[in-house]
Parts: sequence; C-alpha cells; structure tokens
Amino acid sequence: YRRLRVALLGAGAVGSQVARILLQHGEELADRAGASLELAGIAVRDVDAKRDVDLPKELFTTDAESLIVGSDIVIELMGGIEPARGNLLLALNSGADVVTANKALLATHGPELFEAADQVGASVYYEAAAAGAIPIIRPLRDSLAGDRVVRLMGIVNGTTNYILDRMDGEGADFGEVLADAQRLGYAESDPTADVEGFDAAQKAAILASLAFHTAVPLEAVHREGITRITPSMIKEARAAGFVIKLLAVCERLIVDGAESISVRVYPALVPRSHPLASVHGANNAVFVEAEAAGSLMFYGAGAGGVQTASAVLGDVVSAARRHIAGGVGVGESTRANLPTVPIGSVITRY
Ligand code: HSE
Repeated sequence: YRRLRVALLGAGAVGSQVARILLQHGEELADRAGASLELAGIAVRDVDAKRDVDLPKELFTTDAESLIVGSDIVIELMGGIEPARGNLLLALNSGADVVTANKALLATHGPELFEAADQVGASVYYEAAAAGAIPIIRPLRDSLAGDRVVRLMGIVNGTTNYILDRMDGEGADFGEVLADAQRLGYAESDPTADVEGFDAAQKAAILASLAFHTAVPLEAVHREGITRITPSMIKEARAAGFVIKLLAVCERLIVDGAESISVRVYPALVPRSHPLASVHGANNAVFVEAEAAGSLMFYGAGAGGVQTASAVLGDVVSAARRHIAGGVGVGESTRANLPTVPIGSVITRY
C-alpha cells in the first residue's frame, strides 16, 4: 500500500482513543482505505501529561507545525479556536486533507476553512463534530442531498441529556450528576459549554447549515441552557406526561412571504410518546423530517472518547481513500445564505 502520513493534534479523551485504534487496527484500516495510515506523531501541549491510554512516548511532540507540514492527513482534536484554526489552515495550505471534531471552530469559522480547502482542492471532514458516534453529517450532506429537509430536532448534548435523565429518573441533584458526567468524560473541560447550551448551539449551527444547504452563523442560534431547570419542574412535567429535554430545533419557515430558517436550543417539553423522549443517558438522537423521505431518526452515543473516535476514524478512512484517488471526492459547500429567525416553537419550550 501507499503510505500516508497522519498527524494527530490533541490526545484528550477522543485523541488518545484515535491513536490507540490507529496503532492497534492499522492493518485492517489500511485494507479498507487502500493506503497504509502511518501515525507520524501526536502534538500536545504537555508531553508528560497523564493520558487515558498508554501510547508510545516517542510519538509525542509539542511542535505541531513541524508535524503538520509534510502530512497527508491532519486530525485536529484539540478543541477551541486557536491554535486549532491556524493549524488547520496550515494543514490545508500544505496539501493535507483534514479531519476535525471541533464544533466550536466549525460553528464560527466553518466557511473560512471550507474556502481554504476549496482553494487547494482539499477536503474537511467533521463527522465527529456533532452527535459523537452517530453518522449524521454525511446523511444530511450526501444521503439527503436530493430531498428537502423541513425540520430537524436533536438531542445533541450528551452531558445535559445525562443530567436531565438522571434528574427525571431518580430525582437526582443537578450538581452531583454534573460531577458524574465530568468523571465519565462526557462534559467539556468547561462544563458551562454543556449546561448553558453553547455546545448544543454550535452543533445546531453545523447541522442546520448542512440540512438547509446554507451557512447558519452561530450568532443566529437562539440559546438557552438547563441551569434553571429544577427537580420540581421535572416532576411537574412528568405528571403531565412530558419529559424535559434540551433540544436543538432547526426548521424552515416562511416569514413575510420569504423563506427563512429558525435555529434554537432550549429546554423543551417532549411528550413521553415521542421517540426523542426515550433517549437516555449520554445518548444523542437527531430526528429529521424531509419532504420525500418522511421522518428519520438517528440515534446513538453522543459523547465519550472511544465512541467519538469511531466517527473520527471513519473520516480518516474516507480522507485516505480520497487522497489516493488523487483528490476526487466530496467537496464542502454551504454557500448561499438564507436569513435566520429565532421564532416559534414546535415542541413546547419549557
Ligand atoms: N460535551 C459534549 C456532550 C461532548 O456532552 O455532548 C460531545 O460533543
């Protein structure tokens, strides 16, 4: 097989699992990709930090730039805007295809990255950026490209679903279950991103951009978190036949005769009979309504290191296939802008 040089940036909960699987199942992945995937190195801030997985010490470096230049595929799992953005632009401009799970970066600088990739004929893969292990980016961008999505409702944050589910099931206390979610590796390093809905809003912007083939800026997403939800609200909702879920709702609307899009994240009253009501623990689900296909539901692990690594590695195989085919394959396109309006509600806002 032709050898492809793979650079990994970041070795947190997801990154360390990606490295482990690349090293342990390299031959199998090579057969699927048609190329041998050589992990050239792992760029981290602190080489000696404690990691979830034991990995060969010699792979670690603090010099991300030297690792990136000359690589064929760059996997970015550092999170945050900088230096992730600069590193990905460097990777694209050096001819690499990139794989990222960085929802904050995509929600704020997605168009810049796609533009940079288009300029050099490279591709940006980001299946892991929304809903963890669940295949949702490709289905929205590719499988449903011939249809017309009218609405998408998602539970896209594992931490808040885990918290609300335990509050609903056991009457558990918010603080105690948040600590568990952090211990289990679901929460962001700053859990405010989860509980205040920032993480879900970033994913909603990404999913809405794909679903409606437009560019939805993060500022257009209405956002509310779950910190004001008390055990008694959950009890009352339960007595009335509802469960409270943090939903991302993205839909097409006609406002003043013109087509618009509404994207919003808020705690919603979901009827217990709705499929989204039975999404438990840190699982995620995305319920899509399309004109021709009807209703579709995508369900699975929305957070967690090894689960999210599955989506990242799928992207790495796709990037490798495209790379050896001489750059033929998917491009990114979310170009035309439709106006966004944060109004209305489908499932009642709590
Ligand atoms: N903190 C995120 C969540 C991780 O809880 O869903 C996956 O993006």
